[in-house]
Amino acid sequence: MRTYYCGELRESHIGKKVTVCGWVHYRRDLGGLIFLEIRDRTGLIQTVFAPEASADLFATAEKIRKEYVVRILGEVRKRPAGTENEISPTGKIELVASELEILNASEPPPFYPDEHQTVSEEVRLRYRYLDLRRPDTFQRLKFRTELVRILREFLDNHGFLDIETPILTKATPEGARDYLVPSRTYPGSFFALPQSPQLFKQLLMIAGIDRYYQIARCFRDEDLRADRQPEFTQLDIETSFLDENAIMELMEDMVRKLFLELLKVELPNPFLRMSYQEAMNRFGIDRPDLRNPLELVEIADLVKNVEFKVFAGPALDPEGRVAVIRVPNGGERLSRKEIDDYTNFVSLFGAKGLAYVKVNNRAEGREGLQSPILKFLPDDVIEAILDRVQAQTGDILFFGADKARVVNDSLSALRNKLGQDLGLLQGQWKFLWVVDFPMFQRDPTGGHWQPVHHPFTMPLAESPIELERDPGACSSIAYDMVLNGTELGGGSIRIHKADIQQAVFRVLGITEEQAKLKFGFLLDALKFGCPPHGGIAFGIDRLAMLMTGSASIRDVIAFPKTQTAFCPLTSAPSTVEPEQLRELGIRTRLEKTEVI
Ligand code: AMO
Ligand code: AMP
Repeated sequence: MRTYYCGELRESHIGKKVTVCGWVHYRRDLGGLIFLEIRDRTGLIQTVFAPEASADLFATAEKIRKEYVVRILGEVRKRPAGTENEISPTGKIELVASELEILNASEPPPFYPDEHQTVSEEVRLRYRYLDLRRPDTFQRLKFRTELVRILREFLDNHGFLDIETPILTKATPEGARDYLVPSRTYPGSFFALPQSPQLFKQLLMIAGIDRYYQIARCFRDEDLRADRQPEFTQLDIETSFLDENAIMELMEDMVRKLFLELLKVELPNPFLRMSYQEAMNRFGIDRPDLRNPLELVEIADLVKNVEFKVFAGPALDPEGRVAVIRVPNGGERLSRKEIDDYTNFVSLFGAKGLAYVKVNNRAEGREGLQSPILKFLPDDVIEAILDRVQAQTGDILFFGADKARVVNDSLSALRNKLGQDLGLLQGQWKFLWVVDFPMFQRDPTGGHWQPVHHPFTMPLAESPIELERDPGACSSIAYDMVLNGTELGGGSIRIHKADIQQAVFRVLGITEEQAKLKFGFLLDALKFGCPPHGGIAFGIDRLAMLMTGSASIRDVIAFPKTQTAFCPLTSAPSTVEPEQLRELGIRTRLEKTEVI
């Protein structure tokens, strides 16, 4: 139907007869002349209709409205002097139309593609196909296609096999709730949609596949945030007979190639590595944004004997932490109101307050400081704190004192916020491997052990006995790739021996009976010659989001769900016919749909 895409035409085509197809983006009727701007996925081209050329043609052009689908034949010419558009790549030319076919009319849509900023996200997602007509959303999807192509190419060249694993399967625990699918043939039984292909990829290693990858859809029913979706895509990878360093090096090569080809950015070789403990000490989080120069500094040892119980209490508590963030020039830049706002902000993370010290003049000791807590602290302690954080005139210090979890959660969030608010971020791409994770952590409410990664990660323990003696002291061979404060990927060396796997289940409070029921197939498989193996999975959506500079993961997914895991386009999830439920042996307890 066409000879060129709209956005491809240039001055070199002047004098050529061309046919374009697309949507009417804009329509200007200047009495004597009608201008239609035609849009396709490549961009826009201006077309001109003059009544002298053909009265019929002009009459058809008059009928046209925005978003009609048309086919136009015309001759490319230079735009008259003074009417060029310097910004548009096709701005120096226009198409003088000689034929116009209306391929389809359009009712006035709920919004025009260039009005996306004025409509709510709910409406944009309800009419996502209109939203996707925008060239920038098209560009993001195109970018994502390229991204996946380059990753595939790399893995194909390194001997990886692309293998699909089941979607209707059994629960694979990755820390979220499962999406369940009822079985008709086994009434009362359910499939779970995979939270990841974790166990299948391990079985593929036992099968001798040696190197596997998959662009895998994963499903997790969890609280959503800007970088989370209930269904999302992983680049899922597993290898046999490679240790963690070999896996990390290979993955770095892959990511370096990706950034070089797509963004022309050369990333460092090797990436920085940091232990989990160091990340928690210095940043309060296991995925620090290293563009942000602010750090947490521990001062528990300096304040454990002061009378100020707010500090001394947590300083003496083995599970407590007292830490400071020094904000260079923050004392000069932050108003009282802003400090109050930050105090409210940290309370969202459980902090009971946000003590601060403004350093008006470092040379004057106590006299040069301004703070509501000074009166509680002796001179030598104040000096020791100022020395440790290397405070300078003009700075502000923010303090957190509580259970370590609260201090880390609140001060790491404050660090991110200060970094954004004060424009402190430096550099564009800060990659980091976080390594040496603990194997287990205590559940914050119940106090029982949970895996920090997943229960199939290899613990660093000589024997099951050693593992069970002190689970909290046990680290694991796990590694996360972090980019600018986002966890891009996570992986580990896996347990390849049944007795260690069973010991991990025991620590997690999974009885032998339950383990057999849930993971019997894995425990069986581990007995039949399982090779040492390990792998990783990257969040493709997150990678695409960061690399395209998008604010939300939804911008790089064609048909995303809302923050409440709803699809406004199809109205899913929805109720089903009673007959369908009967067939499945299911009766719902809700009279009507109940929104949680
Ligand atoms: P993990 O749970 O860390 O590991 O997931 C791997 C990566 O997937 C991405 N991701 C998400 N992206 C969007 N929305 C979500 N809800 C979401 N959840 C996770 C993140 C994350 O780093 N089986 C292991 C991997 C392994 O050990 O090989 C796993 O799934 O970028
Ligand atoms: P208070 O003694 O509660 O009046 O607190 C004195 C100062 O310490 C105030 O600036 C509070 O914001 C701050 N503060 C209180 N509790 C904490 C805490 N757990 N961590 C950090 N600062 C706190």
